Amino acid sequence: MRAIAVLMMTGVLVLAPACSDGGRDPAGEASGNHAVTPAADGDSGAQPAADHAHEAEGEGEALLPIMQRLGSLMTSITYGLMTDNDSMVARSATAIAAHAPIAQEDLERIHGILGDEMAEFERLDLEVHDQSVLLSEAAAAGQTDEVLTQLNTVQRGCIACHSQFRARLLTNPVPQ
Ligand code: HEC
Repeated sequence: MRAIAVLMMTGVLVLAPACSDGGRDPAGEASGNHAVTPAADGDSGAQPAADHAHEAEGEGEALLPIMQRLGSLMTSITYGLMTDNDSMVARSATAIAAHAPIAQEDLERIHGILGDEMAEFERLDLEVHDQSVLLSEAAAAGQTDEVLTQLNTVQRGCIACHSQFRARLLTNPVPQ
């Protein structure tokens, strides 16, 4: 973005002295007069491409911020239900299903603590994912009874994992 802004400003600077008719919007000139662009490009043409190359790949996130988001998405689902807003329910459920992957570093921490139980942890994560997709579909179809049933199932999945694993995996354990 910054490279593009700089490019446009350069365009304005090069263009300004050539224009004697005043009164025109500088931003309009910068984007409208293509003749100026190659000259401005000469210095900095490689920058936008370099910017794109630096776009971050999805490398996952620590479990705690993922969970905090799931918590507020759950609140949005309840709010959407109470305000008869099916699309809010559907969107929030889709976002739960599509939560970011757990970062490698935190996966290793979890694996170190759970050992063989890691498989069950992953199974519950997948189950919540699948049930959230069904919840979203029910909401999109306006089937409120089915939404309520599915919401119960999703929450059972959340709690199933919490009751088995949360206390052992707390990032910030409460001092005893
Ligand atoms: C596969 C296991 C698993 C599933 C499924 C799961 N959680 Fe969690 N959740 C955890 C663990 C582990 C923690 C503790 C994380 C930590 O402290 O690093 C946690 C913590 C939380 C927290 C507390 C965050 C805080 O600020 O301490 C919330 C809120 C939460 N989860 C919401 C949800 C919701 C909502 C769902 C279901 C849509 C869900 N979780 C499903 C494992 C799970």
